[in-house]
Amino acid sequence: MTDSMTDQYCVIGNPVAHSKSPQIHAAFAAQTGQQIDYGRRMAPLDGFADVVRDLISKGYRGANVTVPFKLEAAAIATRLEERARAAGAVNTLSFIDGEIVGDNTDGPGLVADITRNAGVALAGKRILLLGAGGAARGVMLPFLQQGPSAIVVANRTSKTADTLVADFQDQVTQVTAVNFEDIRGSFDIVVNATSASLAQEMPPVPASAFTQDTLALDMMYGDAPTPFMLFAAKQGAATRDGFGMLVEQAAEAFTIWRGVRPDTRELLTSLRT
Ligand code: ATR
Repeated sequence: MTDSMTDQYCVIGNPVAHSKSPQIHAAFAAQTGQQIDYGRRMAPLDGFADVVRDLISKGYRGANVTVPFKLEAAAIATRLEERARAAGAVNTLSFIDGEIVGDNTDGPGLVADITRNAGVALAGKRILLLGAGGAARGVMLPFLQQGPSAIVVANRTSKTADTLVADFQDQVTQVTAVNFEDIRGSFDIVVNATSASLAQEMPPVPASAFTQDTLALDMMYGDAPTPFMLFAAKQGAATRDGFGMLVEQAAEAFTIWRGVRPDTRELLTSLRT
């Protein structure tokens, strides 16, 4: 039972049983002394909007949204923050005075993980972004806001990369689309935003994209390094999975809802082990 002082939140997905979000938000709440209750809610594939309406009727204050509902969450929002509009997807909903406010903390979470946890600045750097789907789109604006010198987007289907790049032309950063076989030169940061790791595959990125100074980050995470991480490590690159991004996107959502920023370092260490 939750008492009337406790604000309720949850993560909506399908599937959702594996989600670590309840654990992460419970830790943030304990650390910051915030009274919240955060659960999981499985929505039928055709029932996302019904679940959102049900949560609002029960007085929930917000929800995180995961696969496959991030586009629907953007559609159901009555107001979209700029980064959610740029991403075309929503992972954080706030229910405020009859409004459904949609935001996207995935990209800011990735930037926070790279800059704060890995200690790698993005300003002036060359970034190779692998993939041009929802995950890649979500990081474009947060990346551009850091002022890298170049973002090269490589995708199997070149039309999708061309469309993405056309949507994010920038004054400071050179933004270009290439096919995997046309990737030239090396990069400071290589981000795998494809879903290839789910199938234990990796996008066909050439070894020459990596140096010993490259940070290679896979947005996916699991018990073992992904094929992309193993390949990058073989070229001498430093590697990271998507776990830091997961914790940081949650911290950003928590900050939006509660107005208090949790310290993620302690949780990053304890949840790993
Ligand atoms: P997400 O929301 O995870 O981004 P998505 O929008 O379906 O999911 O996009 C998946 C991305 O992974 C796409 O860029 C896809 O490439 P295509 O546009 O060519 O389909 C990419 N992808 C998936 N499996 C891949 C593989 N085995 N090799 C290379 N790219 C892959």
